[in-house]
Amino acid sequence: MLVSAKEMLTKAKEGHYAVGQFNINNLEWTKAILLTAEEQKSPVILGVSEGAGKYMCGFKTVTNMVKAMIEELNITVPVALHLDHGSYEACYKCIDAGFSSIMFDGSHYPIEENVAKTKELVQVCAEKGLSLEAEVGSIGGEEDGVVGMGECADPAECKMIADLGVTMLAAGIGNIHGKYPANWAGLSFETLAAISEKVGKMPLVLHGGTGIPEDMIKKAIDLGVSKINVNTECQLAFAAATRTYVEAGKDLQGKGFDPRKLLAPGVEAIKATVKEKMELFGSVGKA
Ligand code: 13P
Repeated sequence: MLVSAKEMLTKAKEGHYAVGQFNINNLEWTKAILLTAEEQKSPVILGVSEGAGKYMCGFKTVTNMVKAMIEELNITVPVALHLDHGSYEACYKCIDAGFSSIMFDGSHYPIEENVAKTKELVQVCAEKGLSLEAEVGSIGGEEDGVVGMGECADPAECKMIADLGVTMLAAGIGNIHGKYPANWAGLSFETLAAISEKVGKMPLVLHGGTGIPEDMIKKAIDLGVSKINVNTECQLAFAAATRTYVEAGKDLQGKGFDPRKLLAPGVEAIKATVKEKMELFGSVGKA
């Protein structure tokens, strides 16, 4: 069964750990993440960007696949199916499709419009029992064609959005999607501390989890981050393992070209990455 992310994140905030959001792209990704969550007895959030939703033949296909997989694989840990960086329109599509959590990324709207749209979605999500993530201060880097400059969020704006009744808040603190450039200045803990103080118990979300050094992840969790998004790192691990398989000529041996064999090392690589992150985030055994 899919659950909203509210309870798992409230527990994470109280328990000083974070729940991973791992983005999915296809059946292999979803299976690898669900199986790892179950093995590690960790709650998990499956992230779906609009582009990935389109790629997987629409949000309804995604919901049906995830629900069926939870049943067939006997997954007992809490799983939230979450729209990542959703537009206003995509939020409604996912609500209709049976997602249990959505992110409305209104960070590119003027703050008044972000507030008005978020307010409306708070109401709808409350009625339907979904969790809602809002964003203040855009996350840098490029994700599915959405380019952010990586500005730091204004703590007063964070408080304004948090007070609307969202479940969790993503705030830009110098984090960016994708690989971090060599001259990256690091996370702004000053900003994070100021936001944390303003928003109190509200779980904070750290996007761009790929490539953030372990000590920074731990410090961010100490300062109130309860959800960490990871996408690129699973993609890199999958691609590297698949490359090794092909370069070793294994697809040319016997039935090595069978997708169930060809994609297997990539699946194992995703599983290993997810396990490592769950250990780092402290969510192992918390389901
Ligand atoms: P990365 O791709 O950098 O891990 O970021 C993921 C993310 O923040 C999804 O919203």
